[in-house]
Amino acid sequence: MVNVVFNAISRIVLGITDSVVHALTVGYILVWDNGLILLNTLSWSKRKGSLIPPGHVGHGGNWPAYIPPGEGDSRCACPALNAMANHGILPRDGRNIPFTELNRATRATYNFSPSFCFYVPLYMAGVLGRSYHNGTLDLEDISVHNGIEHDASLFRHDTYLAENGDQSKPCPDLVDGFFKIVKGDKVTVDDLAKYSEIRRASSRRDNGQFTLSTFHKLFASSNCATLIRIMGGDIPALKAWLYEERLIDGFESATRKPWGLTMGSFQTTVLRIEAGIRAVPSEDSGLGDLGSTYGQAGVSETSALLGGESARKRVPQVNGE
Ligand code: HEM
Repeated sequence: MVNVVFNAISRIVLGITDSVVHALTVGYILVWDNGLILLNTLSWSKRKGSLIPPGHVGHGGNWPAYIPPGEGDSRCACPALNAMANHGILPRDGRNIPFTELNRATRATYNFSPSFCFYVPLYMAGVLGRSYHNGTLDLEDISVHNGIEHDASLFRHDTYLAENGDQSKPCPDLVDGFFKIVKGDKVTVDDLAKYSEIRRASSRRDNGQFTLSTFHKLFASSNCATLIRIMGGDIPALKAWLYEERLIDGFESATRKPWGLTMGSFQTTVLRIEAGIRAVPSEDSGLGDLGSTYGQAGVSETSALLGGESARKRVPQVNGE
């Protein structure tokens, strides 16, 4: 009996300690990120061609050879990470990647801030219940549903709608739909907002197991924001990246500040994207708040881009109804 009580108390204490350490870590990362915003404000942007120093992978936009994934290679829902594996910047088989290496390589390739490059793999390690400092992942682990990966992504079908739930490959039909929206010679924030609205509406309609929390909506808009702040809206670079998960020769991050793209600075783009998504209250909530709204795009608008009015896929009924 004493043992049982002792075990219960020690688990509660560990749980509380874990939450406190997590809150302190997030607080520390936010202070760090704000410090980097200040340093970036006081620094010049690096010149084109000099973002990656000589002797480092990608200097002058020269990337290691692109080789598409082969049988048994591990890939995920993130085009940025898959492209790194396809160029051998991360292990080409996408397996046994230390979280610390994900941090280093993401920063070196895309010029994200050290705060973002620490936070996202740390968060992923938490989702997977592994140690950030000693743990590893296979890229496919990143696609754990409703970890960071969520429904209504721009470039992947929802886990429930995709064949075997596969999130590892580009979906050319969805990338086609996106480029039909783009009317100018660069991808804009408005294009990303418009397509997010369409994808939220079409997933909501077609996926009988659709979920999209406010947290995941903000993650979705963050991905859109990183796309445009890093790839810079350049259409040829984005087409190679989204269809083939390839970096074009000469690619360099559009963020040229020495401390990279900070989490704080891309929130302005996140807000512009969320503000550009027209939304109506969900029919089943009536609350009308941000967490209960979905894209307002109608069936004709979504099917014009994504081809046909697909019937909603529902969970099969056990009684055969
Ligand atoms: C350590 C680093 C990273 C992790 C763990 C990560 C994780 C993920 C995950 C889980 C998704 C799927 C989200 C969804 O369901 O739509 C995703 C998608 C995405 N990520 Fe990453 N990512 C990382 C780095 C990056 C970087 C550096 C960029 C930009 C250069 C980026 C841009 C994107 C984009 C554009 C998508 C596609 C979103 C969509 O289809 O709607 N990610 N990432």
